[in-house]
Amino acid sequence: MTQDELKDAVAAAAIDEVRPMLGKDIVIGVGTGSTANFFIDRLAALRGDFRGAVASSEASAKRLKDHGIDLYELNEVGTLPIYVDGADEVNAHLHMIKGGGAALTREKIVAACSTTFICIADASKRVARLGDFPLPIEVIPMARSYVAREMVKLGADPVYREGVVTDNGNQIIDCYGLEIDDAVALERQINAIVGVVTNGLFAARPADVLLLGSTEGVSRQLPA
Ligand code: 5RP
Repeated sequence: MTQDELKDAVAAAAIDEVRPMLGKDIVIGVGTGSTANFFIDRLAALRGDFRGAVASSEASAKRLKDHGIDLYELNEVGTLPIYVDGADEVNAHLHMIKGGGAALTREKIVAACSTTFICIADASKRVARLGDFPLPIEVIPMARSYVAREMVKLGADPVYREGVVTDNGNQIIDCYGLEIDDAVALERQINAIVGVVTNGLFAARPADVLLLGSTEGVSRQLPA
């Protein structure tokens, strides 16, 4: 199976997971990235069975809209029953690194407002320890160099993601070389650096369910 076929397989499994929860009043959270795109494309077939979606990025909002799915602002709907999104890395605790697509801040906000976070990923994303994938940090532009210097003190090799402006008008630093043993503590520590908007560790609010696609099929995993 190709990686795209694995992504589509986990998207199909997520649809099976979400379908029983749908109803005319239900607004669901939808993530960002290529795996989330497979989910959005499959969600289109269920369009009439739920009220609409909150998107975690402008790109996902456009894709949902193009499929005729109604969009809502998070402030209009409050708590969401379900959020489906991909990840760049995920461990046994369902802590994740996210933000490869630069949508980490809105993703973290939607995740925080959701009762159940379903992470969909192909097997290449499952890791024993987080940190091989460079940790993205969204920063206020004027704080970029300061935050980078602070990240060097934490042992990272920070690289400015040139040419990328987030949906919130900010910039991204990708931090290489971090050895992440306590993801919850590191998430909190990085968030305390002045000028950091969000970091891509999703550990304080991990996923609740992981649907992981491999050549053996899709497995459903809960946090260890
Ligand atoms: C975007 C994200 C994505 O969920 C993450 O990058 C995974 O993307 P893909 O499904 O394309 O591998 O966090 O900010």
